[in-house]
This record gives sequence, structure tokens and C-alpha cells, in this order.
Amino acid sequence: MNLVDKIEKTFALTTPLYYVNDVPHVGSAYTTMAADVVARFQRLLGHRVLLITGTDEHGQKIQRSAESLGKAPQEFCDEIVPSFISLWQLLNIQYDRFSRTTASEHEVIVKEFFQRLWDAGDIYLGQQQGWYCVSCEEFKEERELLEGHRCPIHTNKEVEWRDEQNYFFCLSKYQSQLEELYKSQPDFIQPETRRNEVLSFISQGLQDFSISRVNLEWGFPVPVDPQHTLYVWFDALLGYVTALLEPDAEPTLTNALGNWWPINLHLIGKDILRFHAISWPAMLFSAGLPLPERLFVHGFLTKDGQKMGKSQGNTLDPVGLVHSYGSDAVRYYFLKEIEFGKDGDFNEVRFINVLNADLANDLGNLLNRTLNMVKKYCAGDVLPIANEAINDENPLKAIGLRLGEQVKQAYEALAFNQACEATLLLVRASNKFIDEQAPWSLYKQGQQQEVEKVLYAVLESVRLAAYLLSPVIPNISSAIYQQLGLGIDFNDQIKTSMVAPFATHAQWGVLTSQQPLGKPQPIFKRIETPKND
Ligand code: MSP
Repeated sequence: MNLVDKIEKTFALTTPLYYVNDVPHVGSAYTTMAADVVARFQRLLGHRVLLITGTDEHGQKIQRSAESLGKAPQEFCDEIVPSFISLWQLLNIQYDRFSRTTASEHEVIVKEFFQRLWDAGDIYLGQQQGWYCVSCEEFKEERELLEGHRCPIHTNKEVEWRDEQNYFFCLSKYQSQLEELYKSQPDFIQPETRRNEVLSFISQGLQDFSISRVNLEWGFPVPVDPQHTLYVWFDALLGYVTALLEPDAEPTLTNALGNWWPINLHLIGKDILRFHAISWPAMLFSAGLPLPERLFVHGFLTKDGQKMGKSQGNTLDPVGLVHSYGSDAVRYYFLKEIEFGKDGDFNEVRFINVLNADLANDLGNLLNRTLNMVKKYCAGDVLPIANEAINDENPLKAIGLRLGEQVKQAYEALAFNQACEATLLLVRASNKFIDEQAPWSLYKQGQQQEVEKVLYAVLESVRLAAYLLSPVIPNISSAIYQQLGLGIDFNDQIKTSMVAPFATHAQWGVLTSQQPLGKPQPIFKRIETPKND
């Protein structure tokens, strides 16, 4: 290992491990798209990144789904998993590890981890009574339930009464350590509203929770009592640890935790907040392990105001969406139009309008007509002047000089909508600028240098915008760079971070004079609005 490797910053992040009770829907794709944007941004910064995703395959919910199709659970999981992998390919997700909780190495890690908690005296046998939501795989308080004993999240599902012997984890023992954690690391749970939710929940006093089930075959046996099966959430959270194992490493906790632990960022939806913000840190405390750095909680995608979900049967098919509109379009809509952390509704008309306005018109047409003007007014495919000719008062340069830092902060805060919006402001300002400056008139008046300055400022703005949007729309950004004569493929991340690092390409003034330009071609085809009959 050389010095550069040693000082290189690493960044490990996770999506949740998705249940495989059905093929993925847009809700599950949402976190993965966001995670991919963060990973791509971190790679632009030159960091070594590990993006972990995968599937959560045990438990009653999966067992029942398999049974309903007359299949063995493993066979059922093996059939569903490829639909996740192929969707991630379709959506252009560059993940590094795909963790399956049915993997044999995972069982070894789970056993070792269980043993640590057992040795710490944190696991005991007790009686579990309560209402269980199989869709959440979680016990619910009576007061949380809707009329007819329905789950507040899976509103069409009734919870089931359970009264059985289970092993329990001493969560209550970690009450004060957790309180201290939230106090000393206020950024541990973001956004603030979710942190407050956890603070209020924990202030009511934590109860121990059961980590085993009886009468359930589909799961790992409890190491100290194989009549019991480990609770699906106990094994699922540890999937994050198993994912850290190098492919050929012997599965031990020490090997798994050797390189990337602690994880820098867990991305989750709001329904699985307590598991990640309370149970998971307490389990890690008990095992004597350092905690992940940060947890970011996003909202729900709704359709007609209802949470989209497999259990509710109101999902939106992401495969169809990508086939109709392309991966960049889908990524752009969900990240630009919905504030990460808040709920957001999907609406096809809005979807089409946003893409047409931002990508086809504002960005695409601007590039196209400006490149054509260079051909027409500058006698060739080469930009004749460089950044030095543009003074700092130029309105586009003035925005461009600040934009990189602003967008960096937005990505770091996971404010993807702000990163996109700030960049789009430059694009819109460029459209306004070219219309006001009217290079076609300047040309007629013989003001050649002015024409060139206008065209340079606009093309440099488009380049900067493409760079800053590349974590979200890598294909379109690559096409723009291509047409600007800069042969960078943003899907080739390692090369990109070497030849076009954030430190230089997120700055204004990268295009040089004598820059050979490519052939103008539409980068995003306008979508026709479906007709309402
Ligand atoms: N298997 C657990 C996670 C275990 S992590 C160790 C699980 N799986 S899930 O498939 O049901 O949900 C995975 C993620 O998808 C959650 O973060 C959840 O919030 C998210 N979404 C599921 N439906 C969603 C929407 N309609 N909208 C946005 N995200 C939603 O929970």
C-alpha cells in the first residue's frame, strides 16, 4: 500500500436490504437511486466508496409469500433476487456489494455476533405477548393500531395476536447510552424531525424486544436453542456487516469489520427508523463495536396520497418507467422533485412536464442551439476564446464561480433537490443571457469577439451544469461532455475522478480555447404528453 492509498478517504454507505416478498417497486428503487447519487458524488471527490445493497430474505412474510405460491422459501427468494439486480442495472446503479441474508457466510457472522451479546449477558428467555404486523415484521403497541386492529403502515393488513416464549434482547439496559449518543452526536439521525421522533419515543422508556420466534422455520436457528428461529430483523441488520467481507475472506466478524467499518451512512425510509436508530446502535453497544456515523431517513413515495407498497398493492412499476423514459429521467424526477426526507407524490403529468422543461428545453435545447451558433458564427467546430477573456462580472461566470461549493454542500447534506435546483438556476440564467445578448445580432453588427464571449460563457455553463448533475443524470452528462469535445464517460467513475476531479471540474473555466467541439445532437428527447380521451 502506498502513501496515497493510506491517506485516501473512504466512504461506505448502505441502502436497506429489501424484502423479497415481491419484485421491487419504485419505493424500493428510490433509496437505491439516492444511494447511487451519494456514491457517485463521493467518487467524484476522489474518495474510495463502498455502496452496499442487498436483500432481506428470512421471516414470516417471506415464508408466507413462498407458501402462497407453493414454493420452498429458498427457491422463491432465488427467483425474486434477480429482479432486484436487473432493476439496479436498468437504473444505472453502481453498487459494490449485494448482500443476501440467506448467504452461508452471513449465518457465520450472525452466530458470532449473537454469541457476543449472549456473553455480555444481554439475551434472556421470556414471554412475548402482543400484536404483530407480519408486513412490518414488528410488534405494535395497541394504541398505535387503526380501527379493526389494522397496522398504521400497512393499512389493509390486520395485526396478529402472539403469545409465545421468545428470547429477548436487553434494549432497556442501553437507554442512557442511547440518550447520550443522540446528545453528543446530534447529526447521528437526520433530518431533525426524525431525530425528534426518536427522542420522543425513547423518552417513554425503552422495552426489551424479542429476537427469536417459535413455529417459524424460515430463518437461522438461535445458536443456544435451535427450537427457536432468529427474528428476521436481528439477522437483517447484520447483513450490513456481512456485506463488508472481502469476497474470498473467511467469514469472521474481525475480517468483516477490518476495512470499511464503521459505515459512514445508512439510508433508510421512515418506517424502519426505530430499528436503525434504536435497536441497531444498542446491539452494537452490546457487541462492543463502534457505531455507524450517520443515518438519513427519507419519506414515502405516495400514489394518490397512499404509501406505495407491495403489501398495499398500489405500486408503480419502475421497469416500465425506465423502459418508457430512460434511467436518467427516472433518477432526475425522484431526486429533483422530491425533497429527500419528505414524502412525495408521483404524478405522470408532472413527471413529463418536469423532464421536458428541465432536461429537454432548458438544458438540451440550450446546448444544441449554442453549438450550432458556434458552427455558424465562429467558422468551425472550435471555440475560439478561453475563460481569461470573460470578466468576473459576467452574470454566468459570477454564478459559476460559487456554484461548485454550493452544490457540494447540498450533496453532502443529501439535499439532492437543492443540488439540482441550484444548477438549473445557472442553466436558466444561461438561456436568459443568450436571449438578451442575442449573438445573432452581435454577429450582424460585426462584433465577433462579443459573440465568442457569449458563446463561451454559455457553453462553459452547460459544461459545469453537466458535471454537477452527473451523479444524478450520468448518461446525459456524458453526452454533454462528449459534444463539448471532452471525452469523459461519467459511468467510468475511476477514470473520471482521475481526469475530471471535483476540485477542477466543479470550477468555472474548464473549457479552453481551441477546444474541438463535437456534433450537436439532442441529449434528451422531448416526451409527448399522453392524450386524455
Ligand atoms: N427488509 C427491511 C429492511 C431491512 S434493512 C437491514 C425492509 N424492507 S422493505 O423492502 O420493506 O423496505 C425497504 C425500504 O424501502 C425501506 O427503507 C422503506 O422505507 C422503503 N420503501 C418501501 N416503500 C416505500 C415507499 N412507498 N416510498 C419510499 N420508500 C419506501 O423494510
